[in-house]
Amino acid sequence: MKYIQLDYTYMMDFVREKDILKMQSKVTDVHKVIEERTGIGGDFLGWLDLAHRMPVSELESIVKTAEEIQKTSDIFVVIGIGGSYLGARAVIDSLSHSFHNALPHKSPQIFFAGQNMSGKYYEDLKEVLMNKRLTVNVISKSGTTTEPALALRYFRDLMQSVMASGQVKQRIIATTDAAKGSLKKMADQEGYRTFVIPDDVGGRYSVLTPVGLLPVAVAGININELLQGARDMEAYLKEPDLKKNPAYMYAVIRNSMYASGKAIEIMANFDPSLHFFSEWWKQLYGESEGKDNKGIYPASVDYSTDLHSMGQWVQQGARNIFETLLWIEKSRSGAAVPTLQNDLDGFNFLSGKTFDFVNEKAYQGVTLAHHDGRVPNMSVMIPEMNAYYLGQLIYFFEKACAMSGYLLRVNPFDQPGVEAYKSNMFALLGKKGFEEKNKELMETLKTIERRVV
Ligand code: PA5
Repeated sequence: MKYIQLDYTYMMDFVREKDILKMQSKVTDVHKVIEERTGIGGDFLGWLDLAHRMPVSELESIVKTAEEIQKTSDIFVVIGIGGSYLGARAVIDSLSHSFHNALPHKSPQIFFAGQNMSGKYYEDLKEVLMNKRLTVNVISKSGTTTEPALALRYFRDLMQSVMASGQVKQRIIATTDAAKGSLKKMADQEGYRTFVIPDDVGGRYSVLTPVGLLPVAVAGININELLQGARDMEAYLKEPDLKKNPAYMYAVIRNSMYASGKAIEIMANFDPSLHFFSEWWKQLYGESEGKDNKGIYPASVDYSTDLHSMGQWVQQGARNIFETLLWIEKSRSGAAVPTLQNDLDGFNFLSGKTFDFVNEKAYQGVTLAHHDGRVPNMSVMIPEMNAYYLGQLIYFFEKACAMSGYLLRVNPFDQPGVEAYKSNMFALLGKKGFEEKNKELMETLKTIERRVV
């Protein structure tokens, strides 16, 4: 068995090893605080040992439900937003066929909803679902979030228009709190099956709970392997020594970049299937660290695509960035470059080489070019892309995020800033209880001098 590794070679011109190692005693202290769950937000550290403590009966129930959904559904719609959305999408996209929804499949087509409020999106999705056997998994820890609640109404209505109520309740599965929230109340009243999100696990750390596991299992991915990867990484990262703990090394390096004025971290992948992994990572780090007027801004690019757009900025733009590259070491495909008679395009020197070989040279070329362009970069090396190593990778970034947030002296487990837009939106929508706020906002809107060209 191998582990995820951090290659920080191309960081060494920008941070001194002895300065990294000076952080060891701080890291050891924070490690203790994390393990003993005594720091700020310590009530939300349940993800630390999730993979260990998940009861076998719960796992069996997830797998059984997923198998039933696979047999009885053409389409599976996963409704959720933020931490109740991105983890499942990241895992499914990373591990499934690139064109999963376009293939005649063993498992249903999977679509996501509740992550936006675009009427067009809902109407278009409705068209796709027409006359199909649909199952919905609505996911909301609080059970009160507007976007998924409205999406559930929409699809429930649609189902009720074409099937008997007994069938509708069979085809809606709620993943939510054990006791609180209107989704839980609705599920109990309507008789929906439910899966529970543990109290001590926040949304963005919940991918290895039923939040992520049920959709992932429906996609035909082995959730036991995913959890085993997380379990092994959990054991591996018990070691506070920076030279033995790649997650803590990553946390220390990014904090030292931030301290030196590099306030933007760009995650780059070399495989389109990892696009949503970067989205998951952005939420994890952005929502965990961006508070108290602090925090690295997490951005992402997809290479090669973005080498021909944002690549210019990365190579020669403002030098306030550093890069974290995701590299999969073992090739996933034998697709190779054919020979062209007469070599009309001049690419016969690559005849017979695999696309993955060319991709690897692009990766090596990028690390060197960006280093030369004064962009410190490090690589997270993934031995192979499968459920096991993805489980390791998820745990790696979660543990690093806890360390990094505490080093930055913020609470990495809350998200107070998310409430601001919600209360404005409720007030503007005329929700009961927001009358005062509504008046205040209407006044503000009147006094704002609009400038439109
Ligand atoms: O990480 C978080 O806590 C958030 O991103 C939530 O997951 C998101 O706001 C959705 O919340 P809920 O699951 O309560 O609907």
